Amino acid sequence: MTQALSEHIDYLSLPGRNALYRQAIAATIAPGDTVADLGCGVGVLGLMCLESGASQCWGIDESAAIHLARESMDRAGFADRYTCIADSTFRTQLPEQVDLIIYDHVGFMGFDYGIIPLLRDARARFLKPGGAMIPQALDLWLAPVSSDVCRDKVTRWHDALVPPEFHWFEGLDRNTRFPHNFSADDVLGAPNALGHIDLATDEREFFRFEATLLIDRAGRFDGFAGWFDCQLAGDVRMNNSPLDPASIQRPQAFFPARESFAVEAGDEVRVSFRFRADDNTIAWTIHPPGGAAPHKLSTFNSMVLTPAGLVKDPARPLALSAAGAARAYVLSQVDGQRSGEEIIAAVLAERPDLLPSEQAIRDFVQGVLARDCSAAKPAA
Ligand SMILES: C[S@@+](CC[C@H](N)C(=O)[O-])C[C@H]1O[C@@H](n2cnc3c(N)ncnc32)[C@H](O)[C@@H]1O
Repeated sequence: MTQALSEHIDYLSLPGRNALYRQAIAATIAPGDTVADLGCGVGVLGLMCLESGASQCWGIDESAAIHLARESMDRAGFADRYTCIADSTFRTQLPEQVDLIIYDHVGFMGFDYGIIPLLRDARARFLKPGGAMIPQALDLWLAPVSSDVCRDKVTRWHDALVPPEFHWFEGLDRNTRFPHNFSADDVLGAPNALGHIDLATDEREFFRFEATLLIDRAGRFDGFAGWFDCQLAGDVRMNNSPLDPASIQRPQAFFPARESFAVEAGDEVRVSFRFRADDNTIAWTIHPPGGAAPHKLSTFNSMVLTPAGLVKDPARPLALSAAGAARAYVLSQVDGQRSGEEIIAAVLAERPDLLPSEQAIRDFVQGVLARDCSAAKPAA
């Protein structure tokens, strides 16, 4: 639970965030409205809706935080009006459609925490026709940056202490989007509006934006920062701009250049920025001033090939892995009659070779049964 607590203290204590959501809720909610609190965490946004007159709220979260939400709503006296659902929104069925969906799925750059696919599904299945959403829209911003800390994030692989066999990891990090809290001093030029996303209607799967970053002062261009300005409701907005003292101070996103380069005041750095909403792949091309070769980077290039990645290859036939075959075998032992202990005993007797030790077999079988089984109904 420690991890859930430390994650959610960050959301609960971001400067100004809760007050902005409260204003947006006050401007949106009508007495008696029903609400779905998507990715509810400890339930803070749904709680505000109930305090503002909502009649019923369904809080959905796939992490352990949902248990903190249940206990918190109980203690706050809302147990009968706040229903906690411990699951992914994509697997959840609500008993009825709601008047309002509320969420803070706004990542470092707004779109980069899966907000678009989550809303595409939630709008279609959870929201009454004409229902309301908080937030409603995202504006994306970029600015050129120079930051020793960010530069070190990628060059650290060439540190003398790192054995040379691992220096190639820098290439992976160059293709990575990092969260970072920039200060105004890191910004080399005026921010540039990159694009707008209407969260209530946008159905795009692929987004493509262009920006020209004008350099205001000479320095070393290490990459660019991206952030959001999010319309919660009407004119209630929340942003994480490094240049706005009223920012909620969520970190921004840092996108590195392939290598840092010098820039002068008046230079222009062109950026082409693309992302695929469904798998969060982000690609960025940086055109340095003076016609130097473009830097083409993509989070796709920092993905390490894993079995999970191979499964996505449309041309590759699949077979059960050793763990998959063991799991299938254990599940084949579940017959609605035997208890967990009896199944473990049967597996140990029939397949002592399933894993290297008896303890490993016990732990594995227990894990499979805990995940995929529930108590059988008593015979009538
Ligand atoms: C940024 S936190 C926000 C928590 C809370 N709504 C708040 O404003 O403080 C996002 C939460 O969404 C949950 N989450 C992410 N994707 C989800 C999904 N598809 N279904 C259910 N929960 C999800 C995470 O476990 C996390 O607790």
